[in-house]
Amino acid sequence: MVKVITFGTFDIFHIGHLKILERSAKLGQHLTVGISTDALNYSKKQRYPICQQSSRSEIVAALKCVDNVFFEESLELKREYIEEHKADILVMGNDWMGKFDEFKDICDVIYLERTPSISTTELIEIVKEL
Ligand code: CTP
Repeated sequence: MVKVITFGTFDIFHIGHLKILERSAKLGQHLTVGISTDALNYSKKQRYPICQQSSRSEIVAALKCVDNVFFEESLELKREYIEEHKADILVMGNDWMGKFDEFKDICDVIYLERTPSISTTELIEIVKEL
């Protein structure tokens, strides 16, 4: 069984999130998703996500294409997470192109194209301007 792993915040869940998860799942037979914790997001972006980690992970776990979710507590632990979940393929959006090539010694690393014209940041900006 080919196991796939991917990571993200998945805040204000949108079509770009669904598409990348569906395409990731098709690369194998089992998809694990690491959901960035609220604290990790704060440390990266100096703001908390709109939706709490418990809600974000519940939404992602409910998808047909997702088999398993866990919380990504630290960016430094990617290697450990890939090994712990026995992933054969790491999928990231192409906004991260090349940034995860260091893991090619333990799994395939595939960058998928992002869905154009939508992101959580853009949605927040649109709502702010209403
Ligand atoms: N993603 C995608 N297409 C989009 C937006 C996101 O394929 N239009 C992918 C990202 O490349 C990533 C995953 O969805 O692999 C989770 O991304 P995340 O950062 O949570 O979503 P964004 O909408 O990019 O959020 P932000 O604007 O806060 O960066």
